[in-house]
Amino acid sequence: MVTIERFDPAGADLGGYHAVLVASQAADRPEEPPLPLAEVAGRLAKPLPGMGPAAHWVARRGDDVVAFAGVHFLDAENSGIGLTDVVVHPGIRRSGIGTALLRAVLPELRARGRKSVEGWQVVAGSDGERWAEARGFRRVRTIERLALVVDETDPACWDVPVPPGYRLRRWAGAAPEDVLGSYAVARGAIHDAPLGDSGFRWPEWTAERVRAAEAEARAQGLVQHLVVAVHEETGTVAGLTEVCVHPRRPDWGYQRDTAVVAAHRGRGLGRCVKADMVRWLLAERPGLRWISTNTGAENTHMIRVNREVGFVTQAAMIAVRQELSRLV
Ligand SMILES: CC(C)(COP(=O)(O)OP(=O)(O)OC[C@H]1O[C@@H](n2cnc3c(N)ncnc32)[C@H](O)[C@@H]1OP(=O)(O)O)[C@@H](O)C(=O)NCCC(=O)NCCS
Repeated sequence: MVTIERFDPAGADLGGYHAVLVASQAADRPEEPPLPLAEVAGRLAKPLPGMGPAAHWVARRGDDVVAFAGVHFLDAENSGIGLTDVVVHPGIRRSGIGTALLRAVLPELRARGRKSVEGWQVVAGSDGERWAEARGFRRVRTIERLALVVDETDPACWDVPVPPGYRLRRWAGAAPEDVLGSYAVARGAIHDAPLGDSGFRWPEWTAERVRAAEAEARAQGLVQHLVVAVHEETGTVAGLTEVCVHPRRPDWGYQRDTAVVAAHRGRGLGRCVKADMVRWLLAERPGLRWISTNTGAENTHMIRVNREVGFVTQAAMIAVRQELSRLV
């Protein structure tokens, strides 16, 4: 018999939870190295910045964890969304456990005022997509998951000159005061990145929100690396790219936003800042082996830039969504 219960990861034995995750990853995303236990434990203890608070459930057969569900209650612009991930061990799928877990999380989603449920970790064409469809979710976005595998990439990809009229600036951690204002404006250029029919909205960046996000990243031990292109004539930030690294996973870089202000597009700045980021990271962190990123499939410019600096598509992912009121 399978039982479902709320799960508090603090102080829990995460071995069974991790085993389900690794088995599921091997079935659905075999091209990616498995998430180490310490990484899973770290994420459960402190969700990544911007994810909001989380709640967890597990399904057990006897004492063994066979499946789990996690919900992130996104905040600010996205406080209507319950970002939900349901994972069932591949050896025990199609026995109603995924559906039972989804049913178990619904009261909490309602209690926290969520209007819609979204899942962003579904591999296109996988069990997950077919299940989501059967449960009434609709596909709202197609996403390419790409990785730059350092040992398999020609370093010539990172040899990109800075376009005339610009200079590059790098920092780790907090943005320098003198560029904070224009950096916050430049971050807003991410609003032009397509989101399909997802209810997700990019943050309205201000200097205060930049500082708050930096504090959140710091509190979680994440090191934010920024490369920005500064427009020489005005001294303002014209484009940026961010990669985060966590000391518990020194071989891995998490690509976050890359954005170029509309007036500065078409001059190769995106490629230039991304290439410089790789050069910088490799010089500073020789143990780095992978940089992973997700890009909207319709965002052809970003995908081209990613390929030019050596990113290779690993998997096609989809985001799914359903209104909570229709999931009763
Ligand atoms: C998605 C997932 C959680 C489903 O778990 P599950 O316990 O197998 O799902 P259920 O048994 O509740 O399936 C309910 C119904 O969904 C449909 N379904 C599920 N998997 C399916 C598949 N591979 N092919 C066709 N239909 C499927 C069926 O209609 C099924 O009912 P049936 O078995 O009576 O025909 C599981 O496949 C998984 O862990 N996938 C990887 C993670 C993932 O993609 N999660 C997505 C949700 S965010």
